[in-house]
Amino acid sequence: MHSNIKITSESSIKSAMAKIDKNAMGIVFVVNSSDKLVGVLTDGDIRRAILKGANIFSSCKSLMRKKFIKVKKNDSKTKVLELLQKYKNIIKVIPIINEKEKLIDYATTDRLNFIPIYYPRLKGNELKYLSKCVTGNWISSNGPFVQEFEQKFSSMHNKRLSLAVSSGTTALHLSLVALGIKKGDEVIVPNLTFAAVINAVLYIGAKPVIVDVDEKKWTINPDEIKHNITKKTKAVIVVHFLGNPCNLGKIKSICKSNKIFLVEDCAEAIGSKYKKKLVGTFGDCSTFSFFGNKTITTGEGGMITFKDKKIYKKANILRDHGMSKKKRYFHDEVGFNYRMTNMQAAIGLAQLEKFKDIINEKIQIFNFYKKNLGKNKYITFQKTENKGLNTYWLIGVKFHNKKIIINELQNKMLKNGIETRNFFYPLNVQKIYSNFKTKNNYLAQKVFDNSIMLPSFPGIKYSEIKFISKVLLSSIK
Ligand SMILES: Cc1ncc(COP(=O)(O)O)c(C=O)c1O
Repeated sequence: MHSNIKITSESSIKSAMAKIDKNAMGIVFVVNSSDKLVGVLTDGDIRRAILKGANIFSSCKSLMRKKFIKVKKNDSKTKVLELLQKYKNIIKVIPIINEKEKLIDYATTDRLNFIPIYYPRLKGNELKYLSKCVTGNWISSNGPFVQEFEQKFSSMHNKRLSLAVSSGTTALHLSLVALGIKKGDEVIVPNLTFAAVINAVLYIGAKPVIVDVDEKKWTINPDEIKHNITKKTKAVIVVHFLGNPCNLGKIKSICKSNKIFLVEDCAEAIGSKYKKKLVGTFGDCSTFSFFGNKTITTGEGGMITFKDKKIYKKANILRDHGMSKKKRYFHDEVGFNYRMTNMQAAIGLAQLEKFKDIINEKIQIFNFYKKNLGKNKYITFQKTENKGLNTYWLIGVKFHNKKIIINELQNKMLKNGIETRNFFYPLNVQKIYSNFKTKNNYLAQKVFDNSIMLPSFPGIKYSEIKFISKVLLSSIK
C-alpha cells in the first residue's frame, strides 16, 4: 500500500497536506494509535477549512470526516466497482479494512483492472502547448493556437474554411443559423443520435422531422429522407453514427435535386471516408465535436468546415457576438459567444499531430474485436457503408437472440470490471421530442433494444479485448 495514503489522527493538517501532495490522490485515510481507520481527509476539506481560518498545525482529528465509504477485505470486486461507479464524480479512492477495522489497502478503478468505455489519449505535446498558453498569457480565445488549429484542420479537410467553436452542439446551432434556417422551416434528423442534433434545430424554432435509420448500418436511411421532404424542408442533418459514414452519394443527390442544405455531423467520425474522401468535406456545413470522449479531443470544443465562403464569413461574425469585423464593439447581427479558447486549441493541435496513429489504432481495435467475436451467430457489427471507411469512434455490437437482455448483460460485464454503454435512446421515444416523429415503429428502436457499445479507447490492450470478448461470449451463451 502507498505509504502516503495513511496518516495518524494526531498528525498535523500540514503533514496531511504533504502526504496528499505526494500521493496525488487528493485524500488521506486517518488511523488512530491502534491503526484503526477512523476518518478521511480530502484536499478539498483542507482547502475549505483553511479559507475559514483553520490552523494547519492543528490535528487531523479536528478536521477529518468521520462518515465515509469503506469496504471490507472480503467484499466482492463487483461491490467495490459498483460503489466506484455510483459515486464516480465524488469518490475515486475507497479504503479497504480488515475484520479489526484496520486499514489494509485502498481500491481505485485502475487497481481493480477496470476497463472503461473510453478515455482520451493525451500523450503528445498537449502539456507543452498548454503551458505556452499560460506562460504567454494567451488563455482566452485570442491567441495563436486557435488559428493554427483551424488552418491545420482546413488543410486536412480539402482546404475547406474551418471555424473552431466551443462545442459540437454550438457547431450545429451556428451552422443552422448561418445557413439561414428559421422558425417554421423543417429540418430532417436521424432517430438514432445524441440529442444535440435535434436540440440545435429546436433552438432556432425550426421543426425537426425524425426519420429512420438503416437497420444494419445504423445511419440515416436516404429513402426515409426522400419520403419526408416537404415544401418547408430546408436542411437535413446526417450523423456518421459511431464513425460509419452515411451514404453521402445518395444523400447529396437528394439534397441537390430538392434544393436543401446538407449538414454533416461528424462528431463521431473524424477521419472516416466516403469513396476515399474525408467526411466533413461533403456538407454545406460539416460539424465536429472534440468532447473528452471523442476521437480527437480538446476537453470541450467543436469545429465547422464550410463549402461556401459567404456562409463561413457569416458564421465567423455570429461566433463572436455578431460583432462587425471592421468596427469593434459594433454589432451587425444578434450573435453568440461560441468561441474556442487558445487552451482548447493548443490541446487540439497536439491531438491532430497524433491523429493518424489514433485512427489506425481504432481500426485495429475493431479488427481485433471482430476476430474474437465475429464468428458468433448471435453477434453482428455495424455494417460499414459501401465504399466507406469507418473509424469506429465506439464499437457497437448488436445481438440476434431474444433471450439476451441488454441490462443483464451489461451488469454481468460490469461485475467483471468492464464498462459498456447502451446506445442513445431513439429520439421519438423521448417525450420532449415525440411530437416530431414521422412513424410509430422505427428500426432505430430495434437497434437500440439489442445493442451495446464496448470499450474502444486508443491504448486498450489486445489482452483486454480478448478478456472482454471472453466475458461477452460466456454471458450470451
Ligand atoms: C452526433 C453528435 N452530435 C453532436 C454532439 C455534441 O457534441 P458536444 O458534446 O461537443 O456538444 C455529439 C456528442 O456526443 C454527438 O455524438
